[in-house]
Amino acid sequence: MEPPSQAPFQPQSEGRASGWACPVCATELYLEPTALRCIGGHHFDIAKQGYVNLLLAQQRKSHNPGYNKAMIAARRDFFDAGHYEPLADALARVVLDALPPRDDHVVLDAGCGEGYYLRRLRDIAVTAADSGLARYGVDVSKHGVSVAAKRDPAGRYAVASSHVLPVPPAALDVVITHFSPIFAEAFRRSLRPGGFVIVGAPGPGHLFALKQMVYENPQRHDDPNEELAGRGFVRVDSHRVRYGLQVRNARDVANLLAMTPLYWSASPAAQARLSAYSELDTEVDVVINVYRVAE
Ligand SMILES: C[S@@+](CC[C@H](N)C(=O)[O-])C[C@H]1O[C@@H](n2cnc3c(N)ncnc32)[C@H](O)[C@@H]1O
Ligand SMILES: [Zn+2]
Repeated sequence: MEPPSQAPFQPQSEGRASGWACPVCATELYLEPTALRCIGGHHFDIAKQGYVNLLLAQQRKSHNPGYNKAMIAARRDFFDAGHYEPLADALARVVLDALPPRDDHVVLDAGCGEGYYLRRLRDIAVTAADSGLARYGVDVSKHGVSVAAKRDPAGRYAVASSHVLPVPPAALDVVITHFSPIFAEAFRRSLRPGGFVIVGAPGPGHLFALKQMVYENPQRHDDPNEELAGRGFVRVDSHRVRYGLQVRNARDVANLLAMTPLYWSASPAAQARLSAYSELDTEVDVVINVYRVAE
């Protein structure tokens, strides 16, 4: 499907607002041919894949923060196989349903990884005739952001922490955080009045068969209710997406393992044993909670 005709991130004219805020002085960043620049003179190069790195050295917890290259590649390949399409489409519909009746919607995915959920949102928004929707994605993993930007040239992607979202105050209609960290204060500050945070988190049965392969005594996830309630947000809706996941080849099983922290926390012996599986039946069980900024 053709991506919507949103203005491309690569600058066509100088001095246009980029939608990002300077991580040093918090003023707006403007587009130049190969960089973003604020009125304070801070500037950030646009990488050839089309993203910007707005994560300051002092905000980095490590030299190479967030998901590594192998984890991101595994996620990309597993998503490409379509196993999470029903989940991504359900999330996209929840986002579209939350948007107010205007035509300049701005949605940001905080901890977007390699950008699959924003790309599905893009595609579903086209069929829902909401092609004016601006998509922003941030992640501390430059590997994730690099893939996301390359695969969605009309989206806007930055290496940044969700803890200090580099956008002007009250700029967003929706923040999505799907299996990613939640920062109530940063989200609240970035949202327009009446804006929404949409949180996707594992439900009790999520990938339980996979966990049983890794752990002797696997625990079910707690129901992820009320992550943001009382922290400046009220929960206004909740959805549960459940379906059987039948993985039928060794490559997809290996990718599913490698995309989850579960696998990386297993012993080398367990990793070798797991890598030998060529099929897997498990369950996708995800809770999508919708929170509105409290009045
Ligand atoms: C389980 S992955 C989920 C990625 C994506 N939302 C998805 O569902 O495919 C968690 C992501 O959170 C990112 N992350 C971790 N800490 C972060 C932070 N403080 N700010 C932004 N992203 C962060 C990781 O790099 C990783 O890409
Ligand atoms: Zn600045």
